[in-house]
Amino acid sequence: MKSSECLALLATASATYAQQIYIDTTGPTPRPQCSATLTAQPSFTFRNFSFTLSDTVRTATSVPPPTTTSIYAAAYSDLSSLLPNISYTTWGSWNPNATTTASDTSDPYGQAAWTALWERANPPNFTETGVYSTTVSPTSVPSSELLLPPRDYFGPTDCYNFPEGFMFGVSSSASQIEGATAQEGKGPTLMDILIQDDRPKDYVTNENYYLYKQDIERIAAMGAREYSFSIAWSRILPFALPGTPVNQAGLDHYSDVIDTVLAAGMIPTVTLLHFDTPLQFYGSNLSSAFEAPLIGYVNGAYQNETFVDAFVNYAKIIMTHFSQKVPIFFTFNEPLLYSYNSQSVRNVIDAHARVYHFYKDELKGTGQISIKFNDNFGVPQNVSNEADVYAANHFNSFQLATFCNPIFLGEDYPDSFKQTFPDHVPLTPEDLKYIGGTADLLGIDPYTATVITPPIADDIDGIMECASNTSDVNFPYCVNQTTVNQYGWDIGYRSQSYVYITPTYLREYLGYLYNTFRAPVVITEFGFPVFAEAEKDLPDQLFDTPRSIYYLSYMSEVLKAIWEDGVDVRGAFAWSFADNW
Ligand SMILES: *[C@@H]1O[C@H](CO)[C@@H](O)[C@H](O)[C@H]1NC(C)=O
Ligand SMILES: *[C@@H]1O[C@H](CO)[C@@H](O)[C@H](O)[C@H]1NC(C)=O
Ligand SMILES: *[C@@H]1O[C@H](CO)[C@@H](O)[C@H](O)[C@H]1NC(C)=O
Ligand SMILES: *[C@@H]1O[C@H](CO)[C@@H](O)[C@H](O)[C@H]1NC(C)=O
Ligand SMILES: *[C@@H]1O[C@H](CO)[C@@H](O)[C@H](O)[C@H]1NC(C)=O
Ligand SMILES: *[C@@H]1O[C@H](CO)[C@@H](O)[C@H](O)[C@H]1NC(C)=O
Ligand SMILES: *[C@@H]1O[C@H](CO)[C@@H](O)[C@H](O)[C@H]1NC(C)=O
Ligand SMILES: *[C@@H]1O[C@H](CO)[C@@H](O)[C@H](O)[C@H]1NC(C)=O
Ligand SMILES: *[C@@H]1O[C@H](CO)[C@@H](O)[C@H](O)[C@H]1NC(C)=O
Repeated sequence: MKSSECLALLATASATYAQQIYIDTTGPTPRPQCSATLTAQPSFTFRNFSFTLSDTVRTATSVPPPTTTSIYAAAYSDLSSLLPNISYTTWGSWNPNATTTASDTSDPYGQAAWTALWERANPPNFTETGVYSTTVSPTSVPSSELLLPPRDYFGPTDCYNFPEGFMFGVSSSASQIEGATAQEGKGPTLMDILIQDDRPKDYVTNENYYLYKQDIERIAAMGAREYSFSIAWSRILPFALPGTPVNQAGLDHYSDVIDTVLAAGMIPTVTLLHFDTPLQFYGSNLSSAFEAPLIGYVNGAYQNETFVDAFVNYAKIIMTHFSQKVPIFFTFNEPLLYSYNSQSVRNVIDAHARVYHFYKDELKGTGQISIKFNDNFGVPQNVSNEADVYAANHFNSFQLATFCNPIFLGEDYPDSFKQTFPDHVPLTPEDLKYIGGTADLLGIDPYTATVITPPIADDIDGIMECASNTSDVNFPYCVNQTTVNQYGWDIGYRSQSYVYITPTYLREYLGYLYNTFRAPVVITEFGFPVFAEAEKDLPDQLFDTPRSIYYLSYMSEVLKAIWEDGVDVRGAFAWSFADNW
């Protein structure tokens, strides 16, 4: 367009569309906490001016380490009879450049067999050039690091406090922070295959395997009460399967992680499987790890015919060793996302239920068993539109009720799952009796809300047609997901990712979860990747206002859910205390 045309257009526009509509304001929104006796007009006075503002120094205060710890089960020595006979051994670290080879080739679980696992995984460009090769002694937190930043201008506006025992934690997962990928006997996992197409990004991550003492010291200094971590199955059982030897170095490591957390005055919680499925379950064709699943976005191999027994065996080893000191175990992290097909879902549910029964009935643990779910709360784009509401219910139930109906309610899969996967193995009444009520807490990772419509506006039937057509572009959720409300505005302030700040939807979500699945809820992950954070200078990253707003607003809405809506929320874990990869 030439500028003269532009001017002409502007002229026309201003002639036709001079500001005709004034936004009708009715004054400030109500502030019930404010005094009603304010005078109507300010009074103005001159005074001598002088500077009065100064920094308020705020420092964290050290508290003495605890002198007692609670216990939740008998000691390992009293529980070992619950395990089949197991053997313990240690392996070394894999070096693809090694010029000598192990000679114990007749031992199916010897050094040679262990090395062969890594040669088979053959992770590309494997250099493992971490800085550390042994556990680092923690340095104490310098007092300069205990100096807190200036207070945020906006703080809580409600008058509620968190109930006693509320968990304020931080969360992590083994493959995302540990590093030491092929060291001290750890076997290869799905992550060492996926790295071929750049997911994950490297082998080293934060070297938490060696730096955990330092990390834990700093998390304690931040004032976190709980420390949530996952155990790498392949660090405990490099050969994964029942009857194979346990890696003593792996057990020793996590045992010391737990003791270090307790010594710092925090409480450990453990996730048994957070995406890092051992390599063995991919059978003879490791490329199957890249096969696009029908349900989630990565093939976690849960559908493997040997998976359930092997998971239960692994869980028994962990629980007999660590239940005395660990009050909460999460069996699976976000199982839907790594479910390949309907059998994957079934195997997760069966494995979870068996682990629960082992813990409660045989081990007689007094702690809690839970499972963590993904589902960024689907909200109808237009809450007055029946088809939008239907679509949102379909979306949430497919992701949650598929697991939660059986596990929490002892009820069958929801229609959304049954219609989408008519090949599912039906749950019998006996199955449901065994599976029902096998979780003490519902773990949810409610990062954000997402806006839902049917793929075709107002068309409920279209959702069902999609659900029966695996080629449909929207399969298996069969809804449209968007980030804008019915008037075209984003539903919240945006992060670098799919996360928008949507605190009021969180409050509604907590009500949905509690009233639908009838169990106490724990927020097991939530967080906000600030837009372009890595491009900022360090002081600008550290002054973290967007993330503060995210956490402050979410926690305020959690309080309202608890005190005004009667929703039993037990805790909240920030994701994450460290960068992932
Ligand atoms: C204001 O400052 C002037 C000059 O310093 C001083 O004479 C006067 O007393 C001050 N007035 C008050 C109210 O402090
Ligand atoms: C376990 O091993 C011990 C000692 O080797 C043996 O006496 C016992 O019979 C074994 N138990 C089982 C169930 O195999
Ligand atoms: C293997 O050799 C390469 C090339 O010299 C080197 O970059 C790498 O660090 C070595 N890997 C290990 C595990 O020592
Ligand atoms: C391995 O290194 C080569 C050469 O630097 C590079 O081209 C390739 O992308 C790397 N592969 C992976 C998976 O990182
Ligand atoms: C399932 O896992 C076992 C190892 O436990 C493996 O031998 C088998 O080949 C796997 N099955 C498939 C279909 O990949
Ligand atoms: C291995 O799995 C991949 C992905 O599913 C498939 O394309 C390939 O044909 C399989 N190879 C063999 C030998 O079965
Ligand atoms: C929302 O749905 C109601 C009921 O169908 C309709 O009357 C209203 O116009 C819709 N809102 C928008 C913005 O489309
Ligand atoms: C669903 O998404 C598709 C593709 O983005 C779009 O064409 C369609 O209009 C959307 N449907 C609704 C009801 O928003
Ligand atoms: C299934 O979806 C594909 C892709 O959209 C479409 O080509 C095909 O006609 C659909 N099949 C049925 C039976 O609707």
